[in-house]
Amino acid sequence: MALDKPYRDIPGTTIFDADQARVGYHLNQFCMSLMQPGNRERFKADERAYLDAWPMTGEQKQAVLARDLNRCIALGGNIYFLAKIGATDGRSFQQMAGSMTGMTEEAYRDMMIHGGRSIEGNRSIGENGGSASALRAAPLAAPARRQGTARIGASVYTSHVPAIGAAIDLGRTGDPYWQPLFEGYQPSKAWMKANRPDVILLVYNDHATAFSLELMPTFAIGCAAEFKPADEGWGPRPVPVVAGHPELAAHIAQSLILDDFDLTVVNRMDVDHGLTVPLSLLCGQPAAWPCPVIPFAVNVVQYPPPSGRRCWQLGRAIRRAVASCDQPLNVHVWGTGGMSHQLQGPRAGLINRDFDNAFLDQLIADPAALATKPHVDYLREAGSEGIELVMWLIARGAMADAPPRVVHRFYHVPASNTAVGHLILENSG
Ligand code: DHB
Ligand code: FE
Repeated sequence: MALDKPYRDIPGTTIFDADQARVGYHLNQFCMSLMQPGNRERFKADERAYLDAWPMTGEQKQAVLARDLNRCIALGGNIYFLAKIGATDGRSFQQMAGSMTGMTEEAYRDMMIHGGRSIEGNRSIGENGGSASALRAAPLAAPARRQGTARIGASVYTSHVPAIGAAIDLGRTGDPYWQPLFEGYQPSKAWMKANRPDVILLVYNDHATAFSLELMPTFAIGCAAEFKPADEGWGPRPVPVVAGHPELAAHIAQSLILDDFDLTVVNRMDVDHGLTVPLSLLCGQPAAWPCPVIPFAVNVVQYPPPSGRRCWQLGRAIRRAVASCDQPLNVHVWGTGGMSHQLQGPRAGLINRDFDNAFLDQLIADPAALATKPHVDYLREAGSEGIELVMWLIARGAMADAPPRVVHRFYHVPASNTAVGHLILENSG
């Protein structure tokens, strides 16, 4: 899956994009470790031993030992990370930058004093008849173009209550309390088996699990190869590790960011019940999840979450991102959370059947109008945690314009504190 790289012909320049970040992940994280004084001491005492504790390639380690910054950059390093090595060596940014040009330190300093390197002849490789050929862009593997276009085949919507996960994990799905709920997901499990997607883009909210008050991204996309089930305090759920799809995630991230959605790119994230409970509901208890999953986390913990309109537009942008992917992937987009529930304060336990069912009706039939519903309506009518429903608009926005086929609709009260709602919509095309 080729990322568009209009910057490849800029001479002597490597843009730190998702491909480079993936190749250089451990190299850059090693560099970050040098932010700690104790780590700097250990590195200086025995560089080879320190590097051997990191899962970097031999070439990357060699490039660090040789302080070959050009090589480090070709191998996925980014200058702001690599600067920690230079700082550990007591070198300035000017010394580090100059070391990559083939110039002496003095000549580089003089060049800067005299106005810096000229832009003339340095805009693109071969500019002015090849005068810039000495400043070659670092070699990047030529992307292999493949046939086919990815498409969004279906979307799935479901509540994500932790107690549902516990009921599955503890073998209580047949208990009288739980039986009617799990009954409602039987058709979904059969549908999932018969319609296994290649990838699920799973929109959910993190519940103060991966993100704390130190960092609360509005939209975060998981670009890693795997995501572990989180320990939310009860111990991690006994469910498979979630395999990601780094290539498609990077493609979607780039497409969305260039489409003016400011995503946070996440390379390490444990996933909580918002993601694992829906997978359990539709996939049961397999040894491995049936396909890779791209986690897409939305802040609904600290007010304000993104508006319904923004979520709807994001869904549209996800649709464009997937359509611009050159691999024949069938992608399903899920939205989790909701329906009406309030987990806090004297109004805890609030359920609003009328609101929930009107929401389901309108999500199917007129989602663009539903997207104009303000936050306060959700908070007032569906409970403070009912705001999770805005995430359903992202999945719905990713669907085609033509009316979807309603494969399954289910509503049940209660699961723990929550009204459980569930929809499966297929694109007709
Ligand atoms: C419950 C529901 C949720 O959506 C959640 O994130 C946590 C708890 C509940 O009903 O218990
Ligand atoms: Fe929740």
